[in-house]
Order: sequence, then C-alpha cells, then structure tokens
Amino acid sequence: MSTDSTRKTVLVALGVCLVCSVLVSTAAVGLKSIQDSNKELDKLKNILSAGNIYKDGADVRQLFDENIKAGIMDLENGRPLSADQYTETLNPDIFDIKSMAKDPKFSHLLDAGKDIAQIKRISKYMVYYQVMEIDRITKIILPVYGKGLWSTMYGFVALDRDLTTVKGFTFYEHGETPGLGGEVDNPAWKASWIGKNIYDSAGQLKIEVIKEKVDPSDPAAIFQVDGLSGATITTRGVNALVRFWLSADGYGPFIEYLKSGGLQ
Ligand SMILES: Cc1cc2nc3c(=O)[nH]c(=O)nc-3n(C[C@H](O)[C@H](O)[C@H](O)COP(=O)(O)O)c2cc1C
Repeated sequence: MSTDSTRKTVLVALGVCLVCSVLVSTAAVGLKSIQDSNKELDKLKNILSAGNIYKDGADVRQLFDENIKAGIMDLENGRPLSADQYTETLNPDIFDIKSMAKDPKFSHLLDAGKDIAQIKRISKYMVYYQVMEIDRITKIILPVYGKGLWSTMYGFVALDRDLTTVKGFTFYEHGETPGLGGEVDNPAWKASWIGKNIYDSAGQLKIEVIKEKVDPSDPAAIFQVDGLSGATITTRGVNALVRFWLSADGYGPFIEYLKSGGLQ
C-alpha cells in the first residue's frame, strides 16, 4: 500500500479518532467523581451565598455543617419529615431534586394550568435548609427551579424568619446566554432581591420580576425586582418559577406550617 493512498489516509484518520475517543471517554469516566463532588460543593456554596454566610476561601463543607441544618418537607401538607422517617433516598444529605422529580414513586404530573414554571412533574417531597445561629433558626433557604429560555434554572431563595422578606437569591445551575439571560448571575441583580417581600400583610403572593426597572417611588416596589434587559424570556421564567414555588402549589403549605408555630 503506498504511503499516500486514500485507504491509508482513512485508516490513519480512523485510528487517530479511535485513540482520541478512548482517551476522552477514559478521562470523562475517570474524572466523573471529581466533577460530581465539585458540583455538590458548588451547590453548598450557593446555599451559603443565598444565606449570606459564604466567606471567600472558607472550607465550604465545614461552613455548611456549622451553620446549616437541612430537612425534608412533605410538599402537600407542608410538614417536615422527622429524622426517623428518612430513608436511603429521602434523606436531606443526599436529596436529589432532579431524580426525585423524575421518579414516579416520589412525584406526580402537574396540571398544565398550574405548571407556570414549566417543570412538568413535581416531587412529593423537597429539601430545605435552615440557617442556624446557636439553636435559633434565622433564615430558611428553599430550592426553586423552572424553565428559562434555553434551560431549566436551579437556584435558592433565602427568607428571613418573618417568612416573607428575601435575604438572598441565587442560581447554581442554568444554561442561559452569558450577558443576556446569564445576567441572573450578576451580583448586583442578585443583591437587588434582598429586602423584597414575597407576600403582603394579608399573606397574598406579591413578588414579581417585572419587565422594566422598578420605580422605587411605587408602593409596589417592595414586591418588585428589575427584569433583565434583552432577556425577556429568562425574566419571565424567573418570575414564574419564584411565583410557582412560593405559591400554594409549592411551599405555601410549608410556609403556613412554619407560621403557625413550626419555626422554633
Ligand atoms: C444568541 C441569542 C441568545 C439569546 N439568549 C437569550 C437568553 O438567554 N434569555 C432571553 O430571555 N433571551 C435571549 N435572547 C433573546 C430572545 O431571543 C428575545 O429576543 C429576548 O428575550 C427579548 O425579547 P423581546 O424582544 O420580547 O424583549 C437571545 C437571542 C439570541 C440571538
């Protein structure tokens, strides 16, 4: 076979492809556990950021263990599970929002009319995080997620003990466009959530991400967050997901339970 024959060129190209694909798959498999553990640490870091207790350079796991107490609630009746109800899957340490929502044993389909966050299925249980100061709960951190333009966005909202004032807001996973929908990661925008109220004094859900900028002189400003410019669809998605999770179809029963004496 001549060294510049087509057959030889194709064989060499196939050989290079094969070697490269073996190298890439070996690296992907070999690094999977490191990637998973980094992803988990990033999630914990975001929980700490939402709770405003993250410190640059700190040991994330240690900070989490020292300040946060996680639990699982039954979304339907709003009751926390007691530790003796925990199982291998229903355990706050390993609770996986995505797999729970997919598992027909632990989730159900949402009525299309209720599914404003476009999540299709909802888990019967959800994890929550309490920020502790000595033995007192100072904040509650709740997972929120829903569809943006390109992706399902996963984040956390932290509420004050009054269960209506936002203390922090952050996304730890999304695939929106950097500079457009990706501005959900902009620290100034995230900080603009702090101090906003979710409910009015009658307990009505009022929080809203509006299309434009909030007018601070508007009495409704306390319930409003600026939309992201050039990212109307992501903005609508954030509005919908926050409103869904904090409504009676999401954490409403849990919030009611906490208000009626469940928050120690
Ligand atoms: C490459 C590209 C990426 C975009 N990424 C986003 C995005 O992440 N979020 C978003 O809401 N809109 C994004 N848009 C813009 C939307 O297509 C849409 O124009 C935008 O939401 C503004 O809507 P409006 O014209 O109704 O205000 C993107 C557009 C392009 C061309």
